[in-house]
Amino acid sequence: MQILQDKKIVLGISGGIAAYKTPDLVRRLKEQGADVRVVMTEGAKAFITPLTLQAVSGNPVSDSLLDTQAELAMGHIELAKWADIIVIAPATADIIARIACGMANDLLSTLCLATTAPVAIAPAMNQQMWHAQATQENIAKLTSRTYHIWGPGAGEQACGDIGLGRMLEVSELVTLCNDFFAEKYLENQHWVITAGPTREAIDPVRYISNHSSGKMGYAIAHAAVSAGAKVTLISGPVAITPPIGCHVIQVNSAEEMHQQALKYAPDGTTFVACAAVADYRVANVSAQKIKKNNDAMQLDLVRNHDIVADVASLANKPFMVGFAAETQDVEQYARGKLVRKNLDLIAANDVAKSGQGFNSDNNALTLYSTIDKTDIPLANKQLVANHLVLLINQHYTAKNSIKKQ
Ligand code: CTP
Repeated sequence: MQILQDKKIVLGISGGIAAYKTPDLVRRLKEQGADVRVVMTEGAKAFITPLTLQAVSGNPVSDSLLDTQAELAMGHIELAKWADIIVIAPATADIIARIACGMANDLLSTLCLATTAPVAIAPAMNQQMWHAQATQENIAKLTSRTYHIWGPGAGEQACGDIGLGRMLEVSELVTLCNDFFAEKYLENQHWVITAGPTREAIDPVRYISNHSSGKMGYAIAHAAVSAGAKVTLISGPVAITPPIGCHVIQVNSAEEMHQQALKYAPDGTTFVACAAVADYRVANVSAQKIKKNNDAMQLDLVRNHDIVADVASLANKPFMVGFAAETQDVEQYARGKLVRKNLDLIAANDVAKSGQGFNSDNNALTLYSTIDKTDIPLANKQLVANHLVLLINQHYTAKNSIKKQ
């Protein structure tokens, strides 16, 4: 079942240019099974019509506190009680200020006072307005009242400014709604995850690397965060955005990743080595750019530390999960690495099969422990990661309950 199935979401829209994105937001939420009721401020109606939102939500749109007909259909108190969550997107500086002051001078601000449901605010305004002391004080007030502040994002703004203040993208808001309702079965756990490739310098402008996109590691980090874990993501250079809520540590080389892994792993409950670490680095990195003076050249390479094996040899090691990307004899090689590196689990994939693994959006895995194996069928990497995180936690819980006996 989808996480948002039958969730009752009141979407409050205030008067910002990002309001034009809200029909798409309503559609995405509905696609995932949510029941969405829209409340608009007067300002919002200058950017988008109630008719559009009524059509996409399939529910009447509420926009007035003093409308007798609307109050007959679903009054403001009823709406406040109906909601599982109120999401205000876009939330202008004005609605944020009015909610922070406890005003009830329109339907949306009144709902926020009248509800016991959680309220999430997705700020959207000019970057100067966002940084203004008044706005920051209002946000601090709302945070202390346990309002959820989703964003804002950074980037180019409608007014031409660049900076913080953009409403988060629709996909990010949908993800945050999912995360909000997701079961927090990893609460009190700390996952340390390595992801992406490493870059081994040859000289100041060249390096040795591989095709890892970081997508699988980032998807695991996202799944763990949304299940309530604290996540430290040690990432090689990738072109994708890290999931919200992770502590991200950017590294380049295997040596840097090794250092950071040994620093954070002892505090972790679970260590997932998803990075495609370069096995070798250049013995003598040239301080200057190498010139092509010869027809052939040779590079001397030396072995890098095996990060996951070194973490697994710590006295206070976390629950250890490795990856094995293989092109043949997958089970034999994966099981070999499981034992040799002293891991609890290894997730293996066959990268010779097309449409999965490196640089692909999809993956299929088999998770091996010393005694069993479980297949995770081919799917989008996020779904595979959700499934994998669930399985890792089952093994982790089983191991801990044996330890306690
Ligand atoms: N790994 C690591 N540090 C390294 C190399 C690999 O932590 N220096 C981890 C990877 O993150 C992954 C697993 O080890 O979890 C992969 O095992 P490995 O034997 O290194 O894979 P390959 O490099 O593909 O090995 P081989 O060439 O033996 O197939």
